[in-house]
Amino acid sequence: RGPATMSPTGEATGVDQDVVAQRDAYLTTAQGARLYDTDHSLKAGERGPTLLQDHHLREKITHFDHERIPERVVHARGAAAHGVFQGYGTAASITKAAFLGKDVETQVFVRFSTVLGSRGSADTVRDTRGFATKFYTHEGTFDLVGNNIPVFFIQDAIKFPDIIHAGKPHPDREIPQAQSAHDTFWDFVTLHTEATHHTLWNMSDRGIPRSYRMMEGFGVHTFRLVNAEGGTTLAKFHWKPKLGVHSQVWEEAQITGGMDPDFHRRDLADAIEAGAYPQWELGVQVFPDNPEQVFEGIDLLDPTNLVPEELAPVQPIGLLTLNANPTNYFAETEQVAFHPGHLVPGIDITDDPLLTGRLFSYLDTQITRLGGPNFGQLPINRPHAPVNDMLRDGMHQTAVHSGTAPYKPNSLDGGCPFMAGEDVSAYVEVPQAVAAGRKVRQAPASFSDHFSQPRRFWLSMTPVEREHIIAAYTFELNKCYEQAIKERALKVLANIDPQLCQEVATGLGLPAPEPTVPLASVEPSPALSQIGKTWPTD
Ligand code: HEM
Repeated sequence: RGPATMSPTGEATGVDQDVVAQRDAYLTTAQGARLYDTDHSLKAGERGPTLLQDHHLREKITHFDHERIPERVVHARGAAAHGVFQGYGTAASITKAAFLGKDVETQVFVRFSTVLGSRGSADTVRDTRGFATKFYTHEGTFDLVGNNIPVFFIQDAIKFPDIIHAGKPHPDREIPQAQSAHDTFWDFVTLHTEATHHTLWNMSDRGIPRSYRMMEGFGVHTFRLVNAEGGTTLAKFHWKPKLGVHSQVWEEAQITGGMDPDFHRRDLADAIEAGAYPQWELGVQVFPDNPEQVFEGIDLLDPTNLVPEELAPVQPIGLLTLNANPTNYFAETEQVAFHPGHLVPGIDITDDPLLTGRLFSYLDTQITRLGGPNFGQLPINRPHAPVNDMLRDGMHQTAVHSGTAPYKPNSLDGGCPFMAGEDVSAYVEVPQAVAAGRKVRQAPASFSDHFSQPRRFWLSMTPVEREHIIAAYTFELNKCYEQAIKERALKVLANIDPQLCQEVATGLGLPAPEPTVPLASVEPSPALSQIGKTWPTD
């Protein structure tokens, strides 16, 4: 291992830290002193006792004792790969983001994950999957931190601890690991009906993907894109897998999970090693940036909503190819830190209240998970754009900053000639008008319809997809201990569709209740069905 390699600007310099020490001719201590024995501790005589003065023993054991870092509070189990993103240039009229330019190639790192299980849990459980992409663009890092389901459980970030506490294993017995078949999950999602849409997607085949390579990805929130003239457009990001969308059937997922808890992780790594590089097209649905931020009656700031592709087709803007496995799981897959606030010029946020909370949460949790504020200097997190910040010191600081004036304005170190706004390539927030009003803890009235979109999803399913959804609800709810929760779940299903409610009620041996709200009158969206979903681009 060589000396520190970070320049003051965060760029890699000189000696490669990735040299594999154990392959060299001899072992050394962490300080580079050559060792003659690492198999026996220093003892007073062959039969001991072991001596406290054995500093090599102490160094070896102490380092080992501190090898683990906290797992992610959510999305703890994941698998990742390196790749390249190639822009098509088709988004030029709506965003000035340079990495989307024609034939521009950008290195990426993508981490797929389950949400609820711990680091050692099985891959093929019924759950949402994370699909997080780090684009190392020359304008700074852009992270698209999405999921394989286009909607979320909650509309406001303040509910995130609630949904996650309900979804994680019960606090008393710490079961079940990584599946939604339990009382607290169903208690929450039936009391809190804005979760209905996401839950329905989880109970569909989308909850048990065949492979990470065969999943769609979604940015979920509506973003605001900015073009070179300052014009803005609202947009939702989509990843479309070139292999099409495929799931396991439930019985298959049980077998693969039992035979190989690493099923998805292995599948991804093996495919890449064999040269079968998975590919996705990045696409956008675009909407006019009107003051209401509503499209065809759909509130674009409500992350429990999607916009059917029949109303706003997904337009391809680039191609992602994953072509290299990580060299070291811990250094890359475990230490990578995504953040929805890592944005580049041309991509801005909206006031979706879920997104706003996320912008706070990721950095906050990473300061704990990665031991202080300097994890951006870890190789996997280093931007590929020059960094010239005035962030200094802190735990695990590896940069050796020069200069004496890490503040602005200054007259000692030359300062920086440009101020934000004067530099055309700077990231400048859109000067978006905000609605004046009273400070309130309340959601807009447009957030209160929790059943139309789930009903549209149900109506869009083919018969076999419906069968799977009914079987999933029946299986999962049957595992609840509390009768009242099952009954409440049926009331929610009655508001989606009477047939769905009746069939699940039969499976639970309970009467089917009547709907409590009028059934929404919505058209099916065939694009929501995953049957036959492929995106050939050649
Ligand atoms: C982690 C997606 C909502 C807090 C993640 C990851 C993904 C993700 C993909 C894993 C990143 C990785 O691979 O390292 C989403 C999506 C959301 C959402 C698509 C909704 C649209 C939220 C909300 C919060 C939140 C509302 C909190 C207010 C976190 C935290 C982590 C995480 C704390 C762990 C980050 C880390 O330890 O590095 N999320 N999330 N997420 N998410 Fe979210």
